[in-house]
Amino acid sequence: MVAPLKVGIAGLGTVGAEVVRLIENEGKALSARCGRGVRVVGVTARSKAKKRGLDLADVTWAKDPVALASDPNIDCFVELMGGSGEPALSAVETALKAGKSVVTANKALIAKHGIRLAQAAEKHGGALNFEAAVGAAIPVIKTLREGLAATGINRVYGILNGTCNYILTRMEQEGLSFAECLKDAQRLGYAEANPSFDVDGHDTAQKLAILASLAFGTKVAQSAVYVEGISSIAPEDLRAASDLGYRVKLLGVAVKTAKGIEQRVHPTMVPKSSSIAQVMGVTNAVTIDGEGIPPITLVGPGAGGAATASAVLADIADVARGVRVQPFGRPVDRLRATEKAPMERHEGGYYIRLMARDLAGTAATIATRLAEQKISIESIVQRHANGADVGATAGKASPVPVLLITYATHEDAVHRALAAVQKDKVISGRPQVIRIEKN
Ligand SMILES: NC(=O)c1ccc[n+]([C@@H]2O[C@H](COP(=O)([O-])OP(=O)(O)OC[C@H]3O[C@@H](n4cnc5c(N)ncnc54)[C@H](OP(=O)(O)O)[C@@H]3O)[C@@H](O)[C@H]2O)c1
Repeated sequence: MVAPLKVGIAGLGTVGAEVVRLIENEGKALSARCGRGVRVVGVTARSKAKKRGLDLADVTWAKDPVALASDPNIDCFVELMGGSGEPALSAVETALKAGKSVVTANKALIAKHGIRLAQAAEKHGGALNFEAAVGAAIPVIKTLREGLAATGINRVYGILNGTCNYILTRMEQEGLSFAECLKDAQRLGYAEANPSFDVDGHDTAQKLAILASLAFGTKVAQSAVYVEGISSIAPEDLRAASDLGYRVKLLGVAVKTAKGIEQRVHPTMVPKSSSIAQVMGVTNAVTIDGEGIPPITLVGPGAGGAATASAVLADIADVARGVRVQPFGRPVDRLRATEKAPMERHEGGYYIRLMARDLAGTAATIATRLAEQKISIESIVQRHANGADVGATAGKASPVPVLLITYATHEDAVHRALAAVQKDKVISGRPQVIRIEKN
């Protein structure tokens, strides 16, 4: 009879409390699958007095996370506090240096210190599992690290933040503004009181950095990710996208190019027919383009206590079974430094929305500036209130939107052309630019 795996859990919030419940409720099934039981023997959180609806009578309360991590009575330390700094970092490092295995859902910690922690795991023989850190219940870490271990990856991209996808879905379906949808997301508990980490794209960037490392065998480098959020997206962009056969999603994209690895997070137009375009509301999805196989798309709940706890438990089950895989899919000394592809050389199609002044020659000026940068136009839509062409009413009308879709071109060419158009004073306000990702 193999002794049960003794688990210590630091953090008893949304995810931690659910993990304790799941171990209690699914104990028998878990033990049957792993060939041994899993027992929570120690826990800690900020407040011991807080009511959590958990039966912790037989469980030791550690005075702090580092004390729990160094407790010789636990085999596996589960970090569910969050944050890239203390006490999560010291606690995880302490557990690994003691030769224990660690399970965490902490994307911030892995994106910032993943390599240092993987080194500690490797040196001292423990596992470092973080399936829940990206896409919660979606098994994307295992898919990249193990399922596709023999497949070269060209691109991995996805909807990695439910808050942003919820906001964009509501904006598209109901024609509401970003601010209105954000307020609703906050009321429903999908967005934080301070939503900038989500809506400015940083949450997606941390997750993308982890996926890129697993996909391309590079060291996690959050600083290599180009980030743009969704707050500048207007309902008219979503309407225009729809008319042109696209939908706008906040995507994290990591792709191998001739100039290195591009890692970028930005609002993206995706063809309505693509798998990723079908993903609505708070749901997450990741598509993996592997060599020699059609794309694989994984879709599921990317947040929530139960969804996240499911992935944490799967990681604990691996520890119980004695499965230990290198945290980033290969030995740390085989991970390469990230060769960051410069964003100015990004090549792709672009959607451009300009507010054209009602002056004679405006349309011709815009066309000339684009042509000077060798940008070819796939489609152009002018939205004049009375159906007349821009300039045809000789300056009497207010600015009218001109919507352009370009063929593949370089980012710096688009910037140069739009800077020239602005200098020509034929448009008002700043141009809106959204990158297009084809499948
Ligand atoms: N919630 C999700 O949907 C989700 C999804 C994927 C990944 N994650 C990740 O899972 C982790 C936990 O998230 P959560 O939503 O469960 O957070 P949460 O509800 O805020 O819970 C955090 C827990 O950590 C404890 N804690 C915080 N600072 C501590 C400290 N200095 N010492 C001891 N305990 C401390 C808190 O104690 P008190 O209860 O006493 O305050 C609380 O129990 C994070 O890394 C998060 O990114 C969450």
